[in-house]
Order: sequence, then C-alpha cells, then structure tokens
Amino acid sequence: MTPASHPKDRLILALDLPDPGRARDLARKLAEEVGLFKIGLELFVAGGPAFLREMADEFPSRIFLDLKLHDIPHTVASVLRRLPPGVALTTVHAGLGPTGLRQIMAAGPAGVKILAVTVLTSLSSPDLAALGYDPRLAEAPRELVVRQARLAQAAGCHGVVCSGREVAAVKAACGPEFVAVCPGIRPAWAQVAADDQKRTLTPEDALRQGADYLVVGRPVSRAPDPVAAARRVAGEIAQGLAAREAASPA
Ligand code: C5P
Repeated sequence: MTPASHPKDRLILALDLPDPGRARDLARKLAEEVGLFKIGLELFVAGGPAFLREMADEFPSRIFLDLKLHDIPHTVASVLRRLPPGVALTTVHAGLGPTGLRQIMAAGPAGVKILAVTVLTSLSSPDLAALGYDPRLAEAPRELVVRQARLAQAAGCHGVVCSGREVAAVKAACGPEFVAVCPGIRPAWAQVAADDQKRTLTPEDALRQGADYLVVGRPVSRAPDPVAAARRVAGEIAQGLAAREAASPA
C-alpha cells in the first residue's frame, strides 16, 4: 500500500466491471490519477485468480481485494495466506467476532493490511432488529459500528470499512492511526444513473470527518471523462485534508 503522500493516493477506484479486460483498461487509463484499485467479488469471479495475479504484478502494492470474507477463521486465514504479493489491502467481516479476528490476524500473511467490514450500509434498523440485535443498537448503528471497530482494533486489524457518516466516531474511539476506508462517496457534481447509494458524503466532507481513503466507483468510472473526474475528486480530497488540518489543534 503506497503511503498517502499525495491526495490522489487516498483515492481507491472501484473497478466494478464484469469484464476483466475493460477493468484493466480503465486501471491503465487512471494509473496516474488514483492510489489503489479495488477488485470486488464480481470482478474476481469474472477474472479469477489469474487476473488478480496479473493485476497485482502490474500494480504492485496498489490492489485492494474486497471479498468481505466471512467464514470460520481457519478458512479465512487459509484464503489470506494464498493472496498473491502485491495485494495491499483486503477485507474480512467484523462478524467473525473477537476470537475469529484474533485467530486470522495471528495466522495472516505479512504485507497485506486487513480491514474489517463493520455493519453493511444496506442493513436498516428493522433488519438489524430482525437479526436479533439489541433494539437500542439496532436503532443506532453508529454505536454498533464503533463497537465492531474497537473489537477489530483489539484483534490487530489495520482498520475498517465504514460510512463517512460514522468515520468521526470510529476515529474518536480508535485513534488516528486506525485506518478508515469510506465508500458511498458522491461529489456534488456527480450524476450516477439509478443511484443505489443513499447515505452519501462528498469527498471533501468525508476527509473532513476523518476518512483516510475513499472508495469511488461510478462517479469516476462512468464519467464522460474519467481522468478529469478522478482529478476533480483528488482536488476535493486535498480541500478536505486542508480543512481537517486547519481544524485540528496545533
Ligand atoms: O461509487 P460507487 O457507488 O460506484 O461505489 C461502489 C463500490 O463501493 C462497490 O465496489 C461497493 O462494493 C462499495 N461499497 C462498499 N460498501 C458500501 C457501499 C459501497 O464497499 N456500504
């Protein structure tokens, strides 16, 4: 994972394309504009492990493999040990629990940073209540996210994936070094057809709230000019960072 020395290094482009060839073309086109490329389950299944290895070879330390693993710790640890070098970041579910997270972190490979996915933003309060969560926590998912982030940190995970709306609470609980990666980012100028993202934040606001890295997909990949869109997002990241630094005590 490249250290975020430039605002664009904090931009993770979601390569949410079903066609590995088109995904690779997009990554090549934007290689100078973004920090990391996110390969999710759809693209991993379409391209297979060979595609992942090729991408990790071509973009070393710049691949975020987002498979959101949620299985018994032995299986998750075995998968993590088989990741090719060059994968910088990957995800497991916080739902593995404190013991499971500790086991996979103890057995996990060196070199890849492991993020815990907290409460999926697709889950509503009624969903959480139906799943058996305490009604108070189901009503206030932020508290649940913070609780899971603390567990993940105690287990040795490097950070979490969380909404920009929860990142300030996560940072307050876990400290500045615990990495927060935020999806659901929508620049004010972005127009995404039939958008399924509801609880969104602009790049600038997400940075102000404490995000370290932003996952951005369609606002860049479906823009008429993806290079210009990525540059615009990086500019807003720079503004958010400047505002955050100005607001923090000297
Ligand atoms: O910017 P866009 O909405 O296109 O980004 C979608 C990407 O963000 C997808 O890869 C999806 O997996 C990821 N995402 C996520 N968690 C959410 C929302 C989106 O990881 N809560």
